[in-house]
Amino acid sequence: MTFITDIVSTNVHHASVSAIKEMAMLSAKVKGAASLTWGLPSFRTPDYIRAGVIASLDNDIDAGKYTLPDGLPELRRLVVEKHKQETGIEIDADENVMINAGNMQGLNTLFHTMLDPGDEIILTDPCFASHIQQIDLFSGKPVYWPLNEADNWSLDLERLPQLITDKTQAIVIVSPSNPTGKIFTEEELMRVGEIALAHNILVIIDDPYSDFVYDNAGKYFNLASVEKFSDHVVYLYSFSKAYAMSGWRLSYTIMPAELKREAMKVHDATMICAPRISQLAGIAALSQPAVHKPMFARVLQQRRELICQRLENIPHVFASHRPEGAYYVFPKIMVEHANARAFAIDLLNHAGVAVTPGSAFGPSGEGHVRMAYCVDDDTINLAFDRIEQYFSRLG
Ligand SMILES: Cc1ncc(COP(=O)(O)O)c(C=O)c1O
Repeated sequence: MTFITDIVSTNVHHASVSAIKEMAMLSAKVKGAASLTWGLPSFRTPDYIRAGVIASLDNDIDAGKYTLPDGLPELRRLVVEKHKQETGIEIDADENVMINAGNMQGLNTLFHTMLDPGDEIILTDPCFASHIQQIDLFSGKPVYWPLNEADNWSLDLERLPQLITDKTQAIVIVSPSNPTGKIFTEEELMRVGEIALAHNILVIIDDPYSDFVYDNAGKYFNLASVEKFSDHVVYLYSFSKAYAMSGWRLSYTIMPAELKREAMKVHDATMICAPRISQLAGIAALSQPAVHKPMFARVLQQRRELICQRLENIPHVFASHRPEGAYYVFPKIMVEHANARAFAIDLLNHAGVAVTPGSAFGPSGEGHVRMAYCVDDDTINLAFDRIEQYFSRLG
């Protein structure tokens, strides 16, 4: 204990860096480790976006300046068009759209805006690990909604109403899901919307992955496309994965006007605005056809086939459902192990393969690991060659 311990807030002191980043940092220390930890696509930001940014830097004398807190009007106008095209819903660039520095920052702003100590947010279990951390940091309470593993991690709708209390503020949905790769059906999501409407709570849709649905495109459904839920849905879209722009930190949030007015106070006090250079990249991205998207999806679909095939070869080590979208698979560990974290650390230290322990994604994730297949084929093959060899004594 030092004086620093005393001055750090209790919430922060008890928080930890997410297991995803912990494993990424540990694997960086293991020479030659094959890492399936971080959901960071191997793609480069597409040429037409980089060219647009270079032109802005050369020709736009304001390129280095702050923007309005909610973002450049031109980018918000393009977001309105994109949203209309994708959902059929008309929104207003000033009333409903906020440009953020990634969905993480957008969600952080949202939770900061919404949460009083003890307020509850319902998270699917497993869920994206950082949602748990963010809610904890604002003294909120994550309430776990266990998914139905036997039915490939589908939503257990019977259970949802029982989890809602007078402290519940929202339900967070990620579809396709990180970490399971599940795409929730229209029927399931409509039911979630109805329940939210009946209880006057929000559905927060965190969407980095709707562009990665492969042969399940027909199954993908966006609850933000239903007019009657407009006052109860917040939709966050990230450029990180679909445009290979994770380092640019860019996303947008679409929300009811009253909520935007409140969230602006938090955003202004903490960010001022998303970086203008990234917003200019966003304008370049949205003002031209997204010609790169079919290639991204095709490559990732091939990697999904590869990882599923490699997993099928080692049923004595992992049992998994076939992921429908995103680029994660969430197998159950079939070999004896103390817990998922110990398994992951052992695999890294003894087999040179980094995976993320499933326990980071909520209590139902214990006994599982998450593997991100957005890395190149060679990394996937190297990781599985090593896993096969390491567990060959058990086969
Ligand atoms: C569900 C989910 N939300 C948010 C993020 C982070 O998105 P961004 O880079 O836009 O902050 C990720 C990244 O892996 C994610 O999987």
